[in-house]
Amino acid sequence: MTRPVLLVTGASSGIGAATARAAADRGWRLVLVARTGPALEALAAELGGRDVAVSAPCDVGDWDQVRVLPEVAVAAFGRLDAVFANAAAVVATSFRHGTGTPEQWRELVLTNVYGTAITVRATLPALIAARGHLLLTGSVAGQVTVPGQLYSVTKWAVTALARSLRAELVTTGVRTTLIAPGLTDSGVVSPDRAADPMLRPDDVARAVLYALDQPPEVDVNEIVIRPTGQDQHR
Ligand SMILES: NC(=O)c1ccc[n+]([C@@H]2O[C@H](COP(=O)([O-])OP(=O)(O)OC[C@H]3O[C@@H](n4cnc5c(N)ncnc54)[C@H](OP(=O)(O)O)[C@@H]3O)[C@@H](O)[C@H]2O)c1
Repeated sequence: MTRPVLLVTGASSGIGAATARAAADRGWRLVLVARTGPALEALAAELGGRDVAVSAPCDVGDWDQVRVLPEVAVAAFGRLDAVFANAAAVVATSFRHGTGTPEQWRELVLTNVYGTAITVRATLPALIAARGHLLLTGSVAGQVTVPGQLYSVTKWAVTALARSLRAELVTTGVRTTLIAPGLTDSGVVSPDRAADPMLRPDDVARAVLYALDQPPEVDVNEIVIRPTGQDQHR
């Protein structure tokens, strides 16, 4: 059997890069998506070059760049079996104090909500044809109430998107998984949480691979994964 193909957005660092490495170890071939081409090319080379991984520089907030991603997968490997929509922007905000610029608020919504939604839109026809697997990165911040954080609002939207997709795709054979990590040490942790318990990107990658590794009749819909000891309100 030819090796299956996974497209990962946000693959240039953190959870996306760790997942690409873990998936390559399990025999997946990868399409690596983010805006920073050199980081993707370095990771593709590390994973074994064009037979294993190709880079596809792309801003997930731009439909013209996103809609061609399935074609990149088919041109490189002849198929697309799974998509991990994982790219996101992280900006600290406050509604009360107006923290974060309006442009940063726009970027949060455009990347995390619109970007995730159009990644799904662009890749679903291929996934339906393949009876494939769609995985979205949400967050514990999309499961609990976080005062002031527009980021949390965007991640609640990703939770809703995952549930909506499961309902709409129920007759297609496509499986949907929401991965909702707690605090993860991927370089974007705010200074006020630097001493808090954290997952490593590898810990989240194992959860993604757990969902991907299941047989076709098993649809793992949501995985919430916190570092042991994470604050009871988060
Ligand atoms: N770290 C945590 O504590 C934590 C907790 C829960 C959930 N998450 C979620 O986990 C996911 C991965 O984040 P991470 O922690 O691994 O942080 P990260 O290392 O900063 O990864 C974010 C990734 O998204 C990409 N990205 C950002 N904007 C993009 C855009 N417009 N178009 C394409 N790619 C874009 C970045 O690459 P470029 O800059 O090269 O584009 C990068 O590869 C995100 O969905 C995040 O919300 C993180």
